Amino acid sequence: ATTLPYPQQAIAKLGDLKINNPVSFSYPDGASPCALIKKGKPVSGGVGPDNDIVAYSTLCTHMGCPVLYDQAAETFKCPCHYSIFDPDKAGQMVTGQATENLPQIVLAYNDEEKSVYAIAVQGLIYGRQANII
Ligand code: FES
Repeated sequence: ATTLPYPQQAIAKLGDLKINNPVSFSYPDGASPCALIKKGKPVSGGVGPDNDIVAYSTLCTHMGCPVLYDQAAETFKCPCHYSIFDPDKAGQMVTGQATENLPQIVLAYNDEEKSVYAIAVQGLIYGRQANII
């Protein structure tokens, strides 16, 4: 079997990002909601001049409910059964019903364009047998 390549998708310009203010997008296709956040400090897998920009699938790994970013707690929270995921630690599950971390969107920073691209996904998006369908 061949592995289909991930699309390279421009997500945001550096100058448009505000610290701790999530940007919604879909990747690797329109049925996979994600959120990108500039954390304002270096974090695991972070890209950009400050190594602080990360993105995650926002489908909870427990049963697929959309997780919401809590700006005060700086975590993703699932409203269905209260799982909590940490965007500073590669989407690690902090508490809850889920058994898997939130899939992390692999990002690349283009210095010339000053823009952030999604280039792959680490971990399996909820409900899929493969991330590319
Ligand atoms: Fe998120 Fe159950 S669907 S905790």
